Amino acid sequence: MNRTLSESIHAGSSPGHIHSAKDWRFDDDDYKVAGGRIGIIDRWIESIFRFGRRKEKSRAAGGKPLLIAFFQAKWYIYASGVIFILAANLFQAYFPRVLGQFTDELQRGVLTASAIGHYSLLLVGIGIIYALLGGIGQFHIMYVGRIFEYFARKRLFHHFTVLGERFYAKRGVGNLLSYVMNDITSVRESISMGINQTTNTTLLMITAVTAMLASDIPFYLIGVCVLPVLLIPYIVVRFGPVIRERSLAVQDALGTMTESAEEQFAGIRVTKKFAVEPIMIRKFSETVDRIRDRQVKLVRVSSIFQALIPFLGALSLIITLAFGGYLAMNGTITLGNFVALTLYIRMMITPLQQIGNVINTMQRSRASLARLNNLFGERADISELEHAVEKDLTKEPLVVDHLSFAYPGTDREVLRDISFTLKPGRTLGIVGRTGSGKTTLIKLLLRIYDAAPGTVRAGDTDLRELTLSCLRDSIAYVPQDGFLFSTTIRDNISFHNREAEFGTVEHAARTAQIAGSIPSFADGYETKLGERGVTMSGGQRQRTSLARGLMKDAPVLILDDSVSAVDAVTEKRIIEAVREERAGKTTIIIAHRISALKHAGEIIVLDQGRIAQRGTHEELLAEPGIYAELHAIQEEGSRDGTGD
Ligand SMILES: Nc1ncnc2c1ncn2[C@@H]1O[C@H](COP(=O)(O)OP(=O)(O)OP(=O)(O)O)[C@@H](O)[C@H]1O
Ligand SMILES: [Mg+2]
Repeated sequence: MNRTLSESIHAGSSPGHIHSAKDWRFDDDDYKVAGGRIGIIDRWIESIFRFGRRKEKSRAAGGKPLLIAFFQAKWYIYASGVIFILAANLFQAYFPRVLGQFTDELQRGVLTASAIGHYSLLLVGIGIIYALLGGIGQFHIMYVGRIFEYFARKRLFHHFTVLGERFYAKRGVGNLLSYVMNDITSVRESISMGINQTTNTTLLMITAVTAMLASDIPFYLIGVCVLPVLLIPYIVVRFGPVIRERSLAVQDALGTMTESAEEQFAGIRVTKKFAVEPIMIRKFSETVDRIRDRQVKLVRVSSIFQALIPFLGALSLIITLAFGGYLAMNGTITLGNFVALTLYIRMMITPLQQIGNVINTMQRSRASLARLNNLFGERADISELEHAVEKDLTKEPLVVDHLSFAYPGTDREVLRDISFTLKPGRTLGIVGRTGSGKTTLIKLLLRIYDAAPGTVRAGDTDLRELTLSCLRDSIAYVPQDGFLFSTTIRDNISFHNREAEFGTVEHAARTAQIAGSIPSFADGYETKLGERGVTMSGGQRQRTSLARGLMKDAPVLILDDSVSAVDAVTEKRIIEAVREERAGKTTIIIAHRISALKHAGEIIVLDQGRIAQRGTHEELLAEPGIYAELHAIQEEGSRDGTGD
């Protein structure tokens, strides 16, 4: 599965699908894709903050750390949310003052029935306005979180399509899914919930403190009462890094688990056939155990942290009740002042009870954000040069010139000193033992990996100097494993161009000798295939993938062992049909069976990465060597009864 994303991109992509990472931005096009709701709400908020939108356009978001890029693009929604929450809190700060006045009038005995009605109405009014403004503010901020999730997932997927095989060779698919699911969700939680509550808390604190200072409650009393709360920053600094570190460990373990799960699901058939379920269960349990252990460690520290903060809040309240109560009894402050002070302190500790939770979430998501930014930091190995050119591969020969290659991170050369020229319109056959470097050679032609400069060219032009879209549009590649998508047979064949006429699809299917088998599927061409095409036989899968390659009708067609899983008679038919179809067009055929490529204008025999022999079928048969030996063995096999 690891290679299939890049291979399927090569198997048939349109030029627009390959971008470089820097192309990506929080773009207007995204609204079109999102359609209705997101677009409308966003535009509405945007219309209030017009100038913010202009600023966004002038800044490309791609390449910057994820959250910074996001906030630069969407800060106005956030700002609007904060303003609503701020307004709501200003109203709420009025609450204790009204209640304090009420108490004072009550105490002085000057309270009339109409005044009670007046105060009640005032309090109801404050309540309604608070709920309304706060609700709108919260909606904005929750909304920003969801938009973040939406954009981050899109940006992530875009990034995945840019990354090359080298990246996928070292990262499991499950692990990558974990970024899409766990990490993005975790960051979104802190954006929505975290920022919502932080804003709330901070504003509530500020308004409470300001209102307290503005009231006639003595400063020294306020100072003493809020003393324990001042310890909070110290606790945050103390616990924060530990929580973050342990969260990182949890996220890593989650990634390992999804990776393991993905692999287990992919291999479930093999597991069952070999009856090794207990081993697989044990292996999977290990990953789950690791998560549990790390979670417990995280929960231990975060629970202490979360308990400490409300405790400090409660301490403040106790001091207020004791010291404030004492002063009120003394007559140093009025009863109204005492009630107001108690309410202010309560107003402060309600958000404090949540702040532990918030800081927890923030630290967790900082860990996730770091993981995401690391992932976005991965650069594509293959990129397009700034002045890349287009070349017509129906006119330019493919030239491989003294090419040697070792996979990145290894020193073993799997290709050594390979040279050949494939003129337009000719057919090249490549044969060789398994592991001799055939597929590797093709990967270099497709620029899945880059060869040394000048060693692989289109005419005189190094492949690096071609635009990626020109290269990939010019070559149709039928990979060895014949990967199919879980969509209809028709869509699998017309992968390169979903709008293609049915006739073209059918023609490709006929050439690949799969057309005859398609009516046996329930809905013919419209039959949905299971994931990776599991509902087809190996040979059917291979021929469908071959049809997909033929359908692209590119200047160069590369068949990498694409007829290995069919019987000899079908193979012969396919080869004849392909020859007819590709008459006058460049074709490379890799095969283990000589019968599949003996018609080629030139045949190369690869052995341990070197060209051991080269020539036409007849020339190669005439000299002693691998080719003649292979031919003899295969002839013998066919005489023994398989018949060809
Ligand atoms: N991604 C990779 N990283 C490191 N080595 C690799 C990688 N892919 C293949 N190899 C090694 O390169 C050598 C050539 O592999 P290649 O896939 O080109 O063989 P092949 O001729 O296509 O074999 P087959 O006929 O089995 O398809 C092998 O020894 C293989 O182990
Ligand atoms: Mg191969």
